[in-house]
Amino acid sequence: MSKIFALVPAAGCGSRMVSELPKQYLPLAGHPMIYHTLATLCANPEVDIVFVVLASDDTHWHSYDWSLFGDKLQQLFCGGATRAESVLNGLMAAELELDDWLLVHDAARPCLSHKQLARLIEALRDDEVGGILAVPVADTLKRADGECRIAHTESREGVWQAQTPQMFRAGLLLQALQIAPNVTDDASAVEALGFHPKLVTSSFSNFKVTYPQDIELAELLLTQGKKI
Ligand code: CTP
Ligand code: MG
Repeated sequence: MSKIFALVPAAGCGSRMVSELPKQYLPLAGHPMIYHTLATLCANPEVDIVFVVLASDDTHWHSYDWSLFGDKLQQLFCGGATRAESVLNGLMAAELELDDWLLVHDAARPCLSHKQLARLIEALRDDEVGGILAVPVADTLKRADGECRIAHTESREGVWQAQTPQMFRAGLLLQALQIAPNVTDDASAVEALGFHPKLVTSSFSNFKVTYPQDIELAELLLTQGKKI
């Protein structure tokens, strides 16, 4: 049976967070944000190794104690200029078998629950293509004009918000990211090859911490232990 690995791109600078410290290191519920992300992935017994992809000039990683995760956590200082480049560099450095499953998960989604992760793996382990956690859009969607006025209302029928983890075979993802390097998620690269990744229903709690106001919500979810 193929093994399952995880890869966490964590080489971004968090420009929308507008903070000195890259957002993955911001303090959250007693730890740097990325600690919570890695803890959930490392705790899953089906995941063999969790690779974290850091910027080559990262000066923060070694200020923290990661020993709790032991050998299950492996660091790779090979981040790129974009998320896709960081994932591709990490994938090449990890030297996985083509058939191995890879869960790519943003460092900036620390509220992923054990249940959401287990549900994704269960839903996809026998899938031909792979897929992603996602949520059907609940709000009405507005298209803005150039002056921040509503140009028209878009249909939300069948529209989903993509989250991570995104789970694909290492070989397929490697090929996809080499062909389509300008993507904002892994599924887009796989789509560019003509495949149709599966959407596995998740919930809002696995949101991406992006703006300063997101920190408070993440803190609340992590401290209340209400990760759904
Ligand atoms: N990421 C990465 N390498 C990059 C850019 C992003 O590994 N060159 C990672 C981030 O560290 C994050 C994930 O990709 O864990 C999702 O990206 P995002 O939330 O956009 O983070 P940043 O790019 O750091 O934030 P921003 O876009 O606000 O600058
Ligand atoms: Mg970004």
